[in-house]
Amino acid sequence: MSNTETYIAGLKLDSYIFNASGVNDSVLEELEIIANSKSSAITMKSCTIEPRKGNKEPRYARTAYGSIQSMGLPNLGYKKYIEFASYFKKYNKPVIASVAGLCIEDYKLLVGAFQKSDADMIEVNISCPNTDNSIFGYDFEAVENILYDISKFKNKPLGLKLPAYLDSSYNKFISKLIRKYNISFITCINSIGGLIINSETESPVIKNRFGGISGNYIKPIALGNVRRLYELLDKKVSIIGVGGISSGQDAFEFLLAGADAVQVATAFEKEGPSCFRRIKNELEEILESKNYKSIGDVKGRREVISSPSLF
Ligand code: DHB
Repeated sequence: MSNTETYIAGLKLDSYIFNASGVNDSVLEELEIIANSKSSAITMKSCTIEPRKGNKEPRYARTAYGSIQSMGLPNLGYKKYIEFASYFKKYNKPVIASVAGLCIEDYKLLVGAFQKSDADMIEVNISCPNTDNSIFGYDFEAVENILYDISKFKNKPLGLKLPAYLDSSYNKFISKLIRKYNISFITCINSIGGLIINSETESPVIKNRFGGISGNYIKPIALGNVRRLYELLDKKVSIIGVGGISSGQDAFEFLLAGADAVQVATAFEKEGPSCFRRIKNELEEILESKNYKSIGDVKGRREVISSPSLF
């Protein structure tokens, strides 16, 4: 029997699949559903210093190849998620805090607070497409300022939730910063800003018009970012792939590209928490059929993808 146990920043996860920040993970009842599912970790909604109501509805729409959302960071404020991190300890799976600053200075307070909490890891979101600011992850001076501030706290594993980079030179820049500041994991990619129009109603499908595109639309871009960063970074930096994973086959492709685990967002919103068990089972079946016993077995084979002779 194959198993999909894996490690992120040295922390063990019972399976390769868990929830991405942002979908049904803002309040205790929603997080409890994730805790009771086969999601191998509990990732919480990106939080800000103060609670926020978020943008006007409709702010999420399922579409042909995925979804669009402009939630506007509705969350209960970081203090609540610090309480939740303690509450969810009893489930014996990693609790991942996600923090989103509205300005560069916010990150220091947010990361400092979670470093003293019961959260197991901190995902630093520098790629939210739905605030009034431009995305910090595209401004390398801003990223360096954030990293300078937050890397002073050396306690829990710190990761960066990255935006999609559409040119390899940006992957090179960000990988230099990741190495310089000893970041332990990266999550790539966040949703990509776009617009979806309903031709029948002749209007955008969400109130805010523009929003983050997720799901099938972005899978090849996510795979490209995972692979480029896998080749640029020391293998000590764990990579979490996210973007269009709705089947075991998708997860297996991310594994071949270099991801140590994957997160699921759009498929979770559409299908509910059963998606975690289903995708895990499908991945196990693929591993079994290829005679791989573990995630580690496949990792040893990943370099084949580097070889141009295969194409
Ligand atoms: C929101 C959307 C994101 O893609 C993200 O990374 C964080 C927050 C939002 O609009 O709530």
